[in-house]
Amino acid sequence: MNLKQKKTFSLHLIFLILTILSLNLFLFTYLSGQQAMIAFILVLGSFFFFAKTSQVLYERNQNKLLKDVQKSVAEINGKADASNTNHNNPVSFILDRFKDVNKNSRELSWQINFLQQAFRITKFGLILFDEKLQIIMLNDLAAKILDIKPGAKNNTSQINLTPQIKEIAKVALSGKKVKEKIELTYNMRSLEGRGLPVSINGKTIGSLISLQDTTKIDALADVKKDFIANVSHDLRTPIASIKSLTEALLAGAKDNQETLDSFLNELDKQSERLSNLARDILDLSKIENKGSLALKKLAIAPLLEQSVNSFEREAQKKHLKLTLSVKDNTQAKVDPEQLMKAFHNLLDNSIKYTPENGKISVSLTRNNGSINISFKDTGIGIAQKEQMRIFERFYRISKSRSIKSGGTGLGLSIVKHVVENHSGKVGVKSHLNEGSEFTITLPA
Ligand SMILES: Nc1ncnc2c1ncn2[C@@H]1O[C@H](COP(=O)(O)OP(=O)(O)OP(=O)(O)O)[C@@H](O)[C@H]1O
Ligand SMILES: [Mg+2]
Repeated sequence: MNLKQKKTFSLHLIFLILTILSLNLFLFTYLSGQQAMIAFILVLGSFFFFAKTSQVLYERNQNKLLKDVQKSVAEINGKADASNTNHNNPVSFILDRFKDVNKNSRELSWQINFLQQAFRITKFGLILFDEKLQIIMLNDLAAKILDIKPGAKNNTSQINLTPQIKEIAKVALSGKKVKEKIELTYNMRSLEGRGLPVSINGKTIGSLISLQDTTKIDALADVKKDFIANVSHDLRTPIASIKSLTEALLAGAKDNQETLDSFLNELDKQSERLSNLARDILDLSKIENKGSLALKKLAIAPLLEQSVNSFEREAQKKHLKLTLSVKDNTQAKVDPEQLMKAFHNLLDNSIKYTPENGKISVSLTRNNGSINISFKDTGIGIAQKEQMRIFERFYRISKSRSIKSGGTGLGLSIVKHVVENHSGKVGVKSHLNEGSEFTITLPA
């Protein structure tokens, strides 16, 4: 009770006492002593009866008000248990509800903030749909994956999704979880799409779609599959030759000196092919593991010189003019073993793919802070459309020219990996029947 209420209460009490005293005075003045006493008791009794009745009515009214308030709150809270309260005072009940609302709204804004950040940070593209399959929101990654322009992203009603994505959203809306592969033909992406229903109090009110760009993962899986297929094929061919040649020799071919010589030569070729394949696969797997790089600061010229010298005999056999020009002797941080493998493969190709009496020029120069190593030949050359593919594992140009020259098609992919391990680049310039130039550029 505040001060004003206390004052009003005291005034009412004084007024009541005065009324009773004056009534008493009146009764005793005009009635006999006994009558006056009876009349006084009756007046007092009616007064207390009136007071009690008023109190009961007031409390009933207050309880009705409390129940109405509880019912409204229960309706707002989605028919939560309205009787579940210890309050008998509407004011304190309402105050408590206010506290609840305040707490809930703080929790809600925290959750909204959390969801917004999760939408932003996630590695999945996310799209939220309402029950009419209209887009409510989508994150930046979803827009990027689906090639939606930044301006169009905010105007969600204008976004046109592929029928497959809409279908996933629809199935999820029916309460089911979905997981499907999606191929986007318009931007050549492969996606994994998942759909989940979004529900409140058991009622589905929308669906959430997550999109994961699996283009690179799928490409890697294809590379792995191709690699295994190629290795098995390249292993099977020489093994089958070795087996059939050996069987033929054992069956009597060894008795003819000429056949024996030719079969032994073929056996030597096939076993060399096998050992080269095994070496290239081991080299490639070692080189692909960047952790195995053993960098040392040293001059590149001696490494190149050593590689060129090791091919002198091969060049002489084909009457090729092999020259080396070194115009730089600066040092760089390199893995000498790996770098020499790259030089070896490029020299091997130049000699292999240059017809007799051709010319191979190797040079080392320095230009604008980078080291350039060039391998130029006057060989059979590479058509423009093939130049993009020759660095792929196992890629060999036409069968006819490959069979003549042997090889597995791993050489240039080893070169590419070595150069990239050194943060450098390898390029090719070539014209069919004129020659090719492969250039390694390394940071100095
Ligand atoms: N200097 C070159 N001149 C012409 N064609 C070349 C040259 N270098 C590479 N090529 C072409 O590129 C293809 C891929 O070369 P790569 O070195 O990867 O494989 P390869 O030489 O066939 O086999 P290996 O794994 O034994 O090196 C070759 O099959 C060849 O057709
Ligand atoms: Mg090669």
